[in-house]
Amino acid sequence: MPTQTEAPAAATAQELRFPPDFWWGAATAAYQIEGAVADDGRTASIWDTFCATPGLVVDGHTGDVAADHYHRYREDVALMREIGLSAYRFSVSWPRVQPGGRSGENPAGIAFYDRLVDELLTAGIKPAATLYHWDLPQELEDRGGWPARDTALRFADYAAVVAARLGDRVKLWCTLNEPWCSAFLGYGAGFHAPGRKNPADALLATHHLLLGHGLAVQALRAAVPTAQVSIALNQGAVRSLTDSAGDRDAARRIDGLLNRIYLDPIMTGAYPADVMADTAAVSDWSFVREGDLAVISAPIDALGVNYYAPDLVSAAATPHEEPSVYPASQDITFHQTPGPRTEMGWTVDPTGLRDVLIGVHRRFPDLPLYVTENGAAYDDQVDADGRVRDDERIAYLRAHLAAAHEAMTAGADLRGYFVWSLLDNFEWAFGYGKRFGIVRVDYDTQQRLLKDSARWYRDVIHAGGIAA
Ligand code: FCB
Repeated sequence: MPTQTEAPAAATAQELRFPPDFWWGAATAAYQIEGAVADDGRTASIWDTFCATPGLVVDGHTGDVAADHYHRYREDVALMREIGLSAYRFSVSWPRVQPGGRSGENPAGIAFYDRLVDELLTAGIKPAATLYHWDLPQELEDRGGWPARDTALRFADYAAVVAARLGDRVKLWCTLNEPWCSAFLGYGAGFHAPGRKNPADALLATHHLLLGHGLAVQALRAAVPTAQVSIALNQGAVRSLTDSAGDRDAARRIDGLLNRIYLDPIMTGAYPADVMADTAAVSDWSFVREGDLAVISAPIDALGVNYYAPDLVSAAATPHEEPSVYPASQDITFHQTPGPRTEMGWTVDPTGLRDVLIGVHRRFPDLPLYVTENGAAYDDQVDADGRVRDDERIAYLRAHLAAAHEAMTAGADLRGYFVWSLLDNFEWAFGYGKRFGIVRVDYDTQQRLLKDSARWYRDVIHAGGIAA
């Protein structure tokens, strides 16, 4: 095992120390790694349907086999242990637990997570479970999907089933992963499953996802009074191209539609008035019923922040013809932030993570935070000696951990950090071409290989910090 990175990491660890109880994690999601889409009674989710529709996913890739984690979870937990992870964030597949979206439970489906959680605990790794990472049972989409209010009630029913079976051992819950993506990419822009392109549906979905979150919080607390409950939100640093009033207003609007539309109802019990006004041409928001916001704003124990890159926007002189991912935003232009880019084309800018964490901390000083996702895709190669020298990924992770540390120094109560991702996996509409893992997966043989970044992360965890 190469030790090249060990010496510097250990020698300079004093420079950027993290608290001894800091959670050093990695994250994945069910559909992206599990495969085994027809095993033990699982039925189709909206992502199975989306992948089966020609032209929607690069090269026609699907999650049918993925990283075969469903059959290899023991080996994968052993890798986590080798890296020294203290926590692992995975998601539970709704159509495994409730095939066809029917209430009740599929014992064989939930048994997989039961085994996984036990395996993690035996390895000394804290299980952090996400209830919904985008794999809605297809039957529930057929009955209206997230734009339909009933889906929120179905989600609460599912949450209760999972809580009853895993609640005694899961250390942190995330109700939803990135509801912005579910609503805006899935129902508004059509880039994600189920592929609808309707801005009004995106807002309906937003509200029902949030209602589902609130009802799931109730279900989790009813089953497990000591449950630690959070939600993983895309929180982005939205910056204006210039200081002009028009550009600053564009940044305000996108900040509203990306960040505040989710964070504010949860934390303050109200949708931001400016966001409702900005979207008035698309929706009158009459779907918000009395009492909904009280459910949505039930206290959470922590907030999960998923951060990859900042946004840079300006006011467009004339509205764009092509539809925007954001409802009622065709008069806003998105620019590439300067700086190096990852294989996704996303700018590497750790100041965005620092700013997001400090921004949330300033608004909600008592809210514990986790970075529930952060990482980078690069076009990794296996060298002749069998090593993956992913120095760019190491640089990305190091810089973002340093940014997180800066936010902690500024007072943010950051409790942990989860690298996206443990394994190379199915990157949604991009298929398998984008590799985010700190562990390489050879999709022909399903062999796993620790990249240099995994060894570097192991050394960071071991030292409890990184070089400044
Ligand atoms: C996030 C998703 C995650 C992964 C990363 C790259 O938006 O939550 O599943 O695809 O992006």
